[in-house]
Amino acid sequence: MAVEIETKLFQWFAQLFGWTESALGLTMAGDALANFTALKVARHHIGEMHLSQKSLGNAVPLILYCSDRSHVTIERAANMLGLGINTVRKIETDENFKMKMDKLVEAIERDKNAGNQPFAVVGTAGTTSFGSIDPLFEMANICKKYHLWFHVDGAYGSMAILSKLAKDLFKGIELADSITFDPHKWLYISQSASCVLFRNISQAEASFVIDDDYVYKDKEETKTGIDFSDYGPQWSRGFSALKIWFSLIAHGKEAYSERISQDILLARYFAEIVQAHPDFELTIAPNLSICCFRYKPQKMSDFISEDESELYLNQLNKKLLTATQFNGRFFPSSANLNGKFMLRICIVNFSTEASHLLDFLHLLSTIGHELNQSHIENQSEEQHKNILSYG
Ligand SMILES: Cc1ncc(COP(=O)(O)O)c(C=O)c1O
Repeated sequence: MAVEIETKLFQWFAQLFGWTESALGLTMAGDALANFTALKVARHHIGEMHLSQKSLGNAVPLILYCSDRSHVTIERAANMLGLGINTVRKIETDENFKMKMDKLVEAIERDKNAGNQPFAVVGTAGTTSFGSIDPLFEMANICKKYHLWFHVDGAYGSMAILSKLAKDLFKGIELADSITFDPHKWLYISQSASCVLFRNISQAEASFVIDDDYVYKDKEETKTGIDFSDYGPQWSRGFSALKIWFSLIAHGKEAYSERISQDILLARYFAEIVQAHPDFELTIAPNLSICCFRYKPQKMSDFISEDESELYLNQLNKKLLTATQFNGRFFPSSANLNGKFMLRICIVNFSTEASHLLDFLHLLSTIGHELNQSHIENQSEEQHKNILSYG
């Protein structure tokens, strides 16, 4: 029964991404493990020859490409695969935090000329800090040209393909070889519920299946069907597929579609109220349901020179973040771009509404004002130095 539910669930996900019957996937403990699993299959599929013919030490280095905005678990996966972090090429991103395609091609060519073996490219569909989506379609074409595995890390963002507002942003995801995503993020499922999906599940099987005497099975005679332990690193596995499947059935695709759209609209609404507020600055236009901004009071202490103002704003926003988290009502996180510290919200809770965002901004403004005002009123050289060296 558990196997049937997980199979049905992944057939549904496969359809969602435009894939056919050969596609299947499995649930994992988290996207870190899901990324590792996908890249293990990629290494097996593309790199098998290189690794199986020589010892690891003498093999041609296998090279992995991702953007400088991709999640750290990609590097960790390379590390766990025994490839080493220095085989990960972090490709530069443009002003919208999307991987630059000319830089990707240059890096692949450079590696080929150096005698290295490129094997996989990772696109991110919803970067952690800014929600940007790499140019998936162009990446897929580059992978096709160079015979590379194309993996999409959609941990946070890819379920937004359900939303009419965002669907088109994912053009090209259907050309991936593997996709990872976290229903515990944007399908509102409780922790943990992560997924890895393969366009061709037989490639996962080729990478993971191991026959052992004590699990001998004559598949034909016993008519044994799918065994998910053949497709991934885990032997015993949990049944997180149940809660995902149950939730999808209970609410239906349309409800998910509407709610994810609502989250995106809320992030845009939040960006508007931030822009309209004289003491806040929208630092990055919202992407998907992420919005980055900072508190920037109109009046700052006279002690702060022009040169120090950016540093002061960083420290003030760090203090504001911590104080707001301690307040306990809201839990903003942070982002950093070229030394600029920002506050970040990521709306993936189905009960968030516009009124919460208004209350949140009001709270930030109140705490921010108190922090800034106490700096203005109690200013002394010493206190001034203290805040500049905070964090
Ligand atoms: C793009 C991306 N990949 C991977 C991960 C890791 O996911 P998990 O916490 O499920 O391991 C995250 C987490 O935020 C993420 O945003």
